[in-house]
Amino acid sequence: MTEAKGLRALAATLHALARMALGLTFALSGFVKAVDPMGTAYKIADYLAAMGLGRLLPEAALTGASVALSCCEALLGVALLFGVRRRLVAALAFITMIAMTAISVWLVAADPIGDCGCFGDAIVLTNPQTLAKNIVLLALAAAALWHAASTPRLVMQANEWIVMNYSVLFIATIAAVGLYDLPLLDFRPYRVGADLRTADIEHDGDIVDSLIDAQGPALLLIAPHIEKADASMPDDINMAYEFARERGMAMVCLTASGDEAINVWRDITGAEYPIRFADETMLKTMVRSNPGLIAIAGGRVRGKWSCNRMPDEAKLAEATSLQPADGDGRRTTAMKIALWYLLPLFLLTLADRTWMWTRWIRTKHKDNINKPKMRKNIVAGNWKMNLCLQEGLALVKDIEKECKAQKPNCDVIVCTPFPHLGLIPAQVDQDIVAIGAENCADKEKGAYTGEVSAAMVKSTGARYVILGHSERRGYYHETPEILRDKVQLALANGLKVIFCIGESLEEREQGKQNEVVKAELEGSVFCLTAEEWKNIVIAYEPIWAIGTGKTATSDQAEEIHAYIRSVVADKYGKAAADDTTILYGGSCKASNAPELFAKPDIDGGLIGGASLKCPDFMGIVRAF
Ligand code: PGA
Repeated sequence: MTEAKGLRALAATLHALARMALGLTFALSGFVKAVDPMGTAYKIADYLAAMGLGRLLPEAALTGASVALSCCEALLGVALLFGVRRRLVAALAFITMIAMTAISVWLVAADPIGDCGCFGDAIVLTNPQTLAKNIVLLALAAAALWHAASTPRLVMQANEWIVMNYSVLFIATIAAVGLYDLPLLDFRPYRVGADLRTADIEHDGDIVDSLIDAQGPALLLIAPHIEKADASMPDDINMAYEFARERGMAMVCLTASGDEAINVWRDITGAEYPIRFADETMLKTMVRSNPGLIAIAGGRVRGKWSCNRMPDEAKLAEATSLQPADGDGRRTTAMKIALWYLLPLFLLTLADRTWMWTRWIRTKHKDNINKPKMRKNIVAGNWKMNLCLQEGLALVKDIEKECKAQKPNCDVIVCTPFPHLGLIPAQVDQDIVAIGAENCADKEKGAYTGEVSAAMVKSTGARYVILGHSERRGYYHETPEILRDKVQLALANGLKVIFCIGESLEEREQGKQNEVVKAELEGSVFCLTAEEWKNIVIAYEPIWAIGTGKTATSDQAEEIHAYIRSVVADKYGKAAADDTTILYGGSCKASNAPELFAKPDIDGGLIGGASLKCPDFMGIVRAF
């Protein structure tokens, strides 16, 4: 027994570790892609070219795809870490890893691309390393999928949208900065602070070599495609050239475009600085802006600016001074980014957990002080005349699985049409989801064509039966006397009865609701002995709220529930009344259940429409 428990705990720990490792990996890989959206777009273009789809997407679409990919990856990671939509997210992560592993098999076999680009330029892996990494991640994804529904949540479901929206906003902002200006973090060999003399850089521009080797400072204007370069700020560039000339330092423009484009650029901008040809890939790697400016001094990169944020004289002077640069500041930037993201989420999680904890304490307190109750909280579904046998079986199995994973704080009952009772009670664990009928006959047995007796219901294994529902009273003319006979037969056959009472709209408008429910109790169930009463659950269902979308307000419902309890107390004594479960029914949904169930005399719900879909029904169950 203890050994089994230990194994279960070990499995749960492994599951949690796998989910966290996978979540962190996805989040990290989405983040580094978002930091350098142009780099990611180049990588997507490489993949398309390798698949023979070279010109499939225009540049803008590639950039869009790059940002979308970063957001999706990062969100998948965050959702895994926070336990958001646990099964769906774990399944998506698993499918993603299958696809990624397949791609990395292709990378190893055909070698169409040198570096997979999984982590942008931050971590560069060879193709066999990528395959090995993806196999490990696939195994982690499988482990995360297994028992995904039992993953603990970091914040309650109602707050998950904040986590997800904040993450999208954050990632999109990071990408927008990268597109408008330069990547917030630069992982490439030409980052600010890099020593170009020792860095492992391949370039075929001898000009770059000579400028790097020269001790003095120099400026490089980088325009991979000068015909597409932003020519809206020629003054800033010409000012930089003026600055260089006055101080006797070199400034060269490097481009991969041809002479014609260079001449057009000269005409538009009045450029006087030399313009030379260099390799396109190298230029794109040097700066993610077209054009962008780089200051080098003593063989090191000292400054880098996009065309949207060109430096003024003071910045140029600072960058080209020959004092050694003090680091590239990447660590500080990384820490600031992490703080901006993690601190708000940390505070949210803290507030959320504190709220949950105080709510737990308050409920405990309320339970102890206001409700010294022995009575059960119950959420019961009433399928009415809906769902075929197969649909019903599938639904009840889903509910059972969810209840197993979520361990609800109430009893869960599902009442089904008669044919379903032949199958379902044997297929589910009724200690998790108890099964009931929606009706039974008022006769014990015999020539009553079409009727189903309480003994037959009991023989299926069902434990409950709904009696007195307003639809049976209304459409099938079940009188208080008929209902009294049904109740007695049900109890005599060992079934528990969910007995429905409730007034019509007209009666409510005349203020007769108390009178009506009291009469319904007296007419059919107050004939029971105190011992028999223990097997009665009352469901108050105002007829005007059933299936209409109109719910009684929680105060209206509480008022009449308290009244019903007082009537029961008058008949069977206070202790019995305190032990009687009184459910509310009538357009009860996940959205209004918490408020209703928070009332001291409302002990759960009898659910019609919202019991026909597992997520709707479980949303109500979770209200406890
Ligand atoms: P409803 O039905 O939840 O669809 O309003 C309740 C009931 O009739 O039991």
